[in-house]
Amino acid sequence: DWTPAHFVTDTVNALREQIGDRKVIMALSGGVDSTVAATLIHKAIGDRLYGIFVDNGVLRKDEFEQVLETYKQLGLNIKGVDAKALFYKELKDNPDPETKRKIIGRLFIEVFQDEANQLTGIDFLGQGTIYPDVIESVSVHGPSVTIKSHHNVGGLPEKMHLSLVEPLRFLFKDEVRKVGRELGISSELIDRHPFPGPGLAIRILGEVTEEKVKLLQEADAIYINALKENGLYATVWQAGTILLPVKSVGVMGDERTYEYTVALRAVTSVDGMTADWAHLPYDFLANVSNEICNNVRGINRVVYDISSKPPATIEWE
Ligand code: XMP
Repeated sequence: DWTPAHFVTDTVNALREQIGDRKVIMALSGGVDSTVAATLIHKAIGDRLYGIFVDNGVLRKDEFEQVLETYKQLGLNIKGVDAKALFYKELKDNPDPETKRKIIGRLFIEVFQDEANQLTGIDFLGQGTIYPDVIESVSVHGPSVTIKSHHNVGGLPEKMHLSLVEPLRFLFKDEVRKVGRELGISSELIDRHPFPGPGLAIRILGEVTEEKVKLLQEADAIYINALKENGLYATVWQAGTILLPVKSVGVMGDERTYEYTVALRAVTSVDGMTADWAHLPYDFLANVSNEICNNVRGINRVVYDISSKPPATIEWE
């Protein structure tokens, strides 16, 4: 019988067998899969797992600090790398969605490889690959790959001569969550919505700047906290805020304003392949809109995205 407890015991034994007294390096993202995979590997080999968590400048508000703290509490041996400046510099003047994805993917690999080079005697690369990822990368002509190039560390193992350690390779997402709970990982982390590798960069339409990231982080934090406070977070598959590249006229006191618009997005879905826009209560949307316009200088208009996938996609880029 498959139980999370049996899976943990069997997997930890198998990992000890595979890795022996050697070392593993792994990139962590703050997501469910990489966290559960790292916790399993850590259980098997302790601090011979070297985790790297990169601040690419397009994470959610305070996410880098919070996730790093959670990793420390889990006892993981993690290094946080602040690479914000590098990412902002290269993203400058690049408004195209696929170009932004490529830049972020490339820089991520560069930063990770730099960190790996500072360690000696690494034999393995840990990854949080789950079964749907395995299937998706086999069907290389599938729409998810050709429409949007998803950011991962593909190509790294060959370049670095590392073997892969992928303890979640045969699990589905719900099983990964069960294993995570069995390992004592907090629901805050386990029940997180999916978040794309290119992060807020693909939720800032057009050119990404540090200033725009700050604006979007504030609006997004208000929205996500409100979803949590109102018991709505768990009812949607994914939610986020998009900064539109248009300014519009508004009024604040006696002053005319000319500021940015944000779009709120929330969808229900099973696997992200198709999705419906979430029918969030009007009162809730009204409160979020007020809170954003009253508290985030630079945003004077909020709209709600009522498009389903298909024909729209979940992300706007
Ligand atoms: P779309 O926008 O294609 O998104 O409907 C489907 C799911 O994939 C996520 N997504 C990405 N994830 N790198 C990622 O790691 C990407 O470039 C990327 N683009 C979209 C999106 O957040 C949603 O969960």
